[in-house]
Amino acid sequence: MAIKLSTKYVEDFLSKFQLSSLQKKVSACHDMLHNKTGEGSDFTGWVDLPVNYDKEEFGRIKAAAERIRKQADILIVIGIGGSYLGARAVIDMFKDPFRKTTKTEVVFLGQNMSSEYMESLLHYIIDKDVAVNVISKSGTTTEPAIAFRIIKEFMERKYGKEYAKTRIYVTTDKEKGALKSLATTEGYETFVIPDDVGGRYSVLTAVGLLPIAVAEIDIDELMLGASEARTKYMENSLDNECYKYAVYRNALYKVGKKTEILVNYEPCMGYFTEWWKQLYGESEGKDHKGIFPAGVTFTTDLHSMGQYIQDGRRELFETVIKIKNSRSEIVVREDMLDLDGLNYLAGKSMNEINEKALLGTVMAHYDGNTPSMIIEIDEISPRNIGELIYFFEKACGISGYLLGVNPFNQPGVEDYKKNMFALLGKPGYEERRKELESKSK
Ligand code: PA5
Repeated sequence: MAIKLSTKYVEDFLSKFQLSSLQKKVSACHDMLHNKTGEGSDFTGWVDLPVNYDKEEFGRIKAAAERIRKQADILIVIGIGGSYLGARAVIDMFKDPFRKTTKTEVVFLGQNMSSEYMESLLHYIIDKDVAVNVISKSGTTTEPAIAFRIIKEFMERKYGKEYAKTRIYVTTDKEKGALKSLATTEGYETFVIPDDVGGRYSVLTAVGLLPIAVAEIDIDELMLGASEARTKYMENSLDNECYKYAVYRNALYKVGKKTEILVNYEPCMGYFTEWWKQLYGESEGKDHKGIFPAGVTFTTDLHSMGQYIQDGRRELFETVIKIKNSRSEIVVREDMLDLDGLNYLAGKSMNEINEKALLGTVMAHYDGNTPSMIIEIDEISPRNIGELIYFFEKACGISGYLLGVNPFNQPGVEDYKKNMFALLGKPGYEERRKELESKSK
């Protein structure tokens, strides 16, 4: 078993009655998800995706990744939100933070509107061979659309229109949206985001798989881990740890623990936390309710956020990701003089020390009234990460239903867009513009 959940440092905060009432509800949520009778059921294609995916397209993804690795020093992945975070999360977990270890470097664009970021990237790629993967399910999202307009021009200037085409890969809806029309008109190779898979649940579609494969991460193993998780987390009971996690976080929410902090002890998992934050924040934060998802990397953030978690407002709980076996084993050596006083650590690996920091912190936070669940993973491998992705996706669907919201829509995201379009003078938003202008006077 690659993933294990421990609730030892949470139990005292919850009553048996509370857990048993949620336990009854979870069974109904399981049925809603699997029988497609719950809200947002049109977007539950991710549940069976690890086995029920387009095998022909999967082959094309691998072939395209191989071609990109031959064509390009840099792959620019353009996308935002669910069309960005999953790929970045997985790639970062397998990327060496200092050395270039893959043929093609994957960089990200279109996840902000910063001119400085864009200019810096344009300088970085000027003398490099470049390929582009632009990703947008709706095909109309402003940030990636602006980025792609600029990069398309760069590519056509650098390679000529005809040759640039062979270096541009599009991932979008099978028929709708401006990006789809553009891809058809220009003749770009295109990959499809299934209708029934929403952005934040799409990392195991071409959205995540193409960039991940370009980064030389084994996508067969990733899918294998996810399909094993699909079987493992199918059981309709609290022995199912995925459901147990969903139940416990809802129970904690009910006793006033309104913020969940995902804690990792490996810096390579920072973007995994960002992916998780989007998954839970966009799925549950609606109808004026939902746990607020936050994240920290320890021990780094013990020296910044640790004080608050130990001693600030008591509305927090933590979900700690513990990696049992590190991919590296550096041991602290004995020093004759021991001027730094660290000889008591001689012979211990950094991993052992990290593990003790984890346990010591969990216990200190528990004593300070911040409970923790611990999710232990054997090691960071594509197969285990496939399992972890599926674990969190399924727990999120169940948790959203337990909370009583539709976990598969994101109506609140539209509001800032309407204002931004109005302020930028987009046709069709004239009335809104007048309203905003009169309010801001
Ligand atoms: O989860 C979601 O649906 C969103 O975060 C989207 O992924 C994000 O808004 C980007 O949308 P699109 O892929 O349509 O450009």
